Amino acid sequence: MFIKSKIIVIKIGGSTFGQHDTTIEDLVTLQKRRVPVVVVHGGGNAVNDWLARLNIPTRFLQGLRVTDGDTLRVVTAVLAGLVNKELVSEIGRLGGKAAGISGVDGLIVTGRNNNRELGLTAEEVTCNPRLLRVLINNGYMPVVAPVCLNDKLKGNEEINLLNVNGDTIAACIAASLQARELVFLTDVPGIYDDSKQVISHMDSGTARDMIESGTASGGMIAKLEAGMIASQQVALTRIIDGRVDHALLDEIEGKGKGTTIVN
Ligand SMILES: Nc1ncnc2c1ncn2[C@@H]1O[C@H](COP(=O)(O)OP(=O)(O)O)[C@@H](O)[C@H]1O
Ligand SMILES: [Mg+2]
Repeated sequence: MFIKSKIIVIKIGGSTFGQHDTTIEDLVTLQKRRVPVVVVHGGGNAVNDWLARLNIPTRFLQGLRVTDGDTLRVVTAVLAGLVNKELVSEIGRLGGKAAGISGVDGLIVTGRNNNRELGLTAEEVTCNPRLLRVLINNGYMPVVAPVCLNDKLKGNEEINLLNVNGDTIAACIAASLQARELVFLTDVPGIYDDSKQVISHMDSGTARDMIESGTASGGMIAKLEAGMIASQQVALTRIIDGRVDHALLDEIEGKGKGTTIVN
């Protein structure tokens, strides 16, 4: 495939936050090497923690959070606020230059939710990467929280926002930038088959089968769906273990393990 840009989009899995890992260090190293990077983060665990503190029950449908108005307020405060600012400040502390934004800023990400049961969670998103290019071209690493614009108000909501899975927006952003690579850093060594062996390469057909058969479940469903969308526009789509020291640098240097999703 023709590589249209040098940009690398990196999704940081929420599940690996809070533990000591070298991801932030690696992001700063990449920036110093002048590799243009866009970071998209999750933070499901931090959201769960704050929802529990506020006594707001939460549940998931096919790996996506069912979101009502109060949940959306907490999601926005925790992801676009706390989690995003912690990441940006940590990058700064290690000598990097990042700008923390969300899918709402610069109207980058617009989402749609057709599934009433999911509530205020976007299923489909479209992206306009203009603000990302402004930041990258001026030496900033954009760090994007997974909250987006609602394409239409449903009438009974006073917030014009939607909650969105980090994988979904990472794929949309990577495709819109025609990124060189999209890397999902997660808390497993790659995508497992039925016998828990990591699959090294898979195409969209296999990804679809794995979702339908239940071999992929929970958070892996969104990752596979996102991988299938990204692989149409992005030269390389990878799922790797973010818990391994310097997994990101190894990946960029072509020494990564894990799963590649091909179109
Ligand atoms: N076939 C599979 N291979 C690997 N992980 C899977 C599979 N099916 C479900 N999973 C689950 O998906 C999880 C990763 O998704 P998620 O928890 O959303 O993490 P992230 O924060 O990286 O998005 C794994 O921890 C694992 O429990
Ligand atoms: Mg996830």
